[in-house]
Amino acid sequence: MADQRPGIEPEFFDVFHDLLRWGGCEVRRGYGGWVPEVYDLMEGDFEDDIPLVLELAEETGGPVLDLGCGTGRLTIPLLREGLEVFALDSDARMLEILDEKASLLPPCDHKRLTLLQQDMRDCRTPRPAALAVCSTNTFLYLGSLDDQRKALRSIYNCLMPGGVLWLDVFVPKPNPSADEPYLTSHLDPATGTLLLYGAQTREDHFTERSLVNAFTMLLPRQGSPQVFLQSWTYAWLHPNELRLLLEDSGFRLRTLLGDYDGGEADEASVQMIAIAERRS
Ligand SMILES: C[S@@+](CC[C@H](N)C(=O)[O-])C[C@H]1O[C@@H](n2cnc3c(N)ncnc32)[C@H](O)[C@@H]1O
Repeated sequence: MADQRPGIEPEFFDVFHDLLRWGGCEVRRGYGGWVPEVYDLMEGDFEDDIPLVLELAEETGGPVLDLGCGTGRLTIPLLREGLEVFALDSDARMLEILDEKASLLPPCDHKRLTLLQQDMRDCRTPRPAALAVCSTNTFLYLGSLDDQRKALRSIYNCLMPGGVLWLDVFVPKPNPSADEPYLTSHLDPATGTLLLYGAQTREDHFTERSLVNAFTMLLPRQGSPQVFLQSWTYAWLHPNELRLLLEDSGFRLRTLLGDYDGGEADEASVQMIAIAERRS
């Protein structure tokens, strides 16, 4: 039976693509949630998780493995705090931007950074990490339980015995407005470039995933607009599923937080942050 639910169809993207090219836009298509060049403009000012991550990092003493580090929203404060960081991301451009930012730090801080262009399902660190951080839903890009298991086993192997894992994911909940389109804009004060971002999500309750189609349009003051069209999925993880997955992969759940102030997760929580220890 044809799917009658609203949502941006993949075919729509083909037409949109041709239309934009015809209009003189540079169009890039890809899989994955973010455009490295505009990640900081869109997400860079999110700081809620930083104090707890820093506290945990200081408690363990490092090194810290920042999984899916992106442009270094967490890596940079960790370096500033005097910690050694293994910054891991599958996207080379994200790592380049992070390195450009880290090179502005005092040389003694920059020196403590190791960049790893790797997939977290198969990660290797120069030496065992004391803390691994997988922030704000990054783990959910792993679209199947198999991939999530692979990643956890791989993270386990990168940690020292007793090493700690910080895993922050959203709590799946019924959301009547989930399928509604989302549109937002940002103005880059440094360049005057206007950024338009639109996304539409389709929830699949059988495979327990959110399927997202999004566009990011950059309108510079001068020159042609650039458009990025992207599709990706978020795999849902329910609290007990997360507990089982961690146990299964050799971790002991220390606590499941429901916010960045250290409160325990409960039915009102929007995010859940598992803090787990590697069993030796
Ligand atoms: C939402 S961003 C998070 C960036 C940063 N940790 C933060 O909190 O701002 C997710 C990042 O994970 C990376 N990523 C996604 N899947 C990955 C995988 N399987 N292995 C390594 N990195 C991955 C993406 O390239 C992206 O930079």
